[in-house]
Amino acid sequence: MLDIALQNKAKSLIVPSARGNVPPFMVMDVMAAAARIEASGGHVIHMEVGQPAAPAPQTAIAAARAALDLGKIDYTAAVGIPSLRRRIARHYSDAYGAEIDPARIVVTTGSSGAFVLAFLSAFEPGDRVAITSPGYPPYRHILRALGCEPVLIETTSATRHALTGEMLLEAHRKTPLKGVLIASPANPTGTMMTREAMADLIAAADSAGIRFISDEIYHGLDYAFPAVTAAELSSDAIIINSFSKYFCMTGWRVGWIVVPEALARSVETLQQNLSISVPTLSQVAAEAAFDGRAEMDVIKHTYEENRRILIEGLPKVGLTEFLPADGAFYLYADISKFNPDSFEFAKEMLQQAHVAATPGMDFDPFHGKSFVRFSYSRSTQEIAEAVERIARWLGK
Ligand SMILES: Cc1ncc(COP(=O)(O)O)c(C=O)c1O
Repeated sequence: MLDIALQNKAKSLIVPSARGNVPPFMVMDVMAAAARIEASGGHVIHMEVGQPAAPAPQTAIAAARAALDLGKIDYTAAVGIPSLRRRIARHYSDAYGAEIDPARIVVTTGSSGAFVLAFLSAFEPGDRVAITSPGYPPYRHILRALGCEPVLIETTSATRHALTGEMLLEAHRKTPLKGVLIASPANPTGTMMTREAMADLIAAADSAGIRFISDEIYHGLDYAFPAVTAAELSSDAIIINSFSKYFCMTGWRVGWIVVPEALARSVETLQQNLSISVPTLSQVAAEAAFDGRAEMDVIKHTYEENRRILIEGLPKVGLTEFLPADGAFYLYADISKFNPDSFEFAKEMLQQAHVAATPGMDFDPFHGKSFVRFSYSRSTQEIAEAVERIARWLGK
């Protein structure tokens, strides 16, 4: 028989490290159940997946094809292809009237890659970083994996689900914070921060020496009012963005980060060591994507119509409570009057109406059991059909 020490040693080889043991996405269970229904011939309307149904802009695909025909795909500079960085800087000037030095722009492996670079360059292990609840789950999982402590602050309808300067400072007074991360438009709620709300939060963060990080991945998909970039309000903020959503390029894995000057070299050396550079073909395609905005705006109008159908249709089937669906392609609805458990609600809706949506527990450990996230990034025909199916299922 092995002695205890040897047994413990062997055990340590078969379990992941505590920080590597991050929770899975519940949405994956919904997707697996949907796949089973489809395998037996059912037609599921996928409102659980947070990605565009449309392909990348034709300009991006053509540029990638041309680069591929040349055959040689080399590493690029760690910070990205210079012309792409300049093109991103021009985007800030064109879209927001904000002047950004291309030297502050680093191309990343989607915004997911940008989070890792941002957190590593800005925070030490043990640092506390405020995020909102509901919120995008990988924020807290990545922070934890890197040894930081995510501090969840609940948002409510009292502030249109925005984190305020007062809420931030109250949490900071209890135990000091080193950072705060927000998204506008947000996932899962689709809510957006007004310019005043964003300015108030940045001012509070600055006054307390709290690093401000703005996830702007859903910019370009704003319906209620124009989204504000933190770049307009602060040169100390870290701004994260991606080609995944507005440009429909999820699988290309390309995004960017705007870093304050003081962090630029650290982000560059981290990227050199962690990934050398972002896939070259994706960078070439991303640069050309900016010339495909007209095509992407047509898709945005589809989302706008889908949003209208949901906002008008869901109350008719009894789903009267949802957060202001200002942007992105999400609507976050309170389903608690039908079922106390959103996972059970989503499961039954999938099995009986063949409509897949994501239970809120993925996004909100406090109140997620009462909410379901509907993604409306599909065709308008599918979204209209989904509302009809839900109506029949709920007997309306
Ligand atoms: C709020 C938010 N941030 C970041 C991401 C990550 O996107 P990507 O790494 O594809 O840029 C997502 C993806 O759904 C998201 O919803």
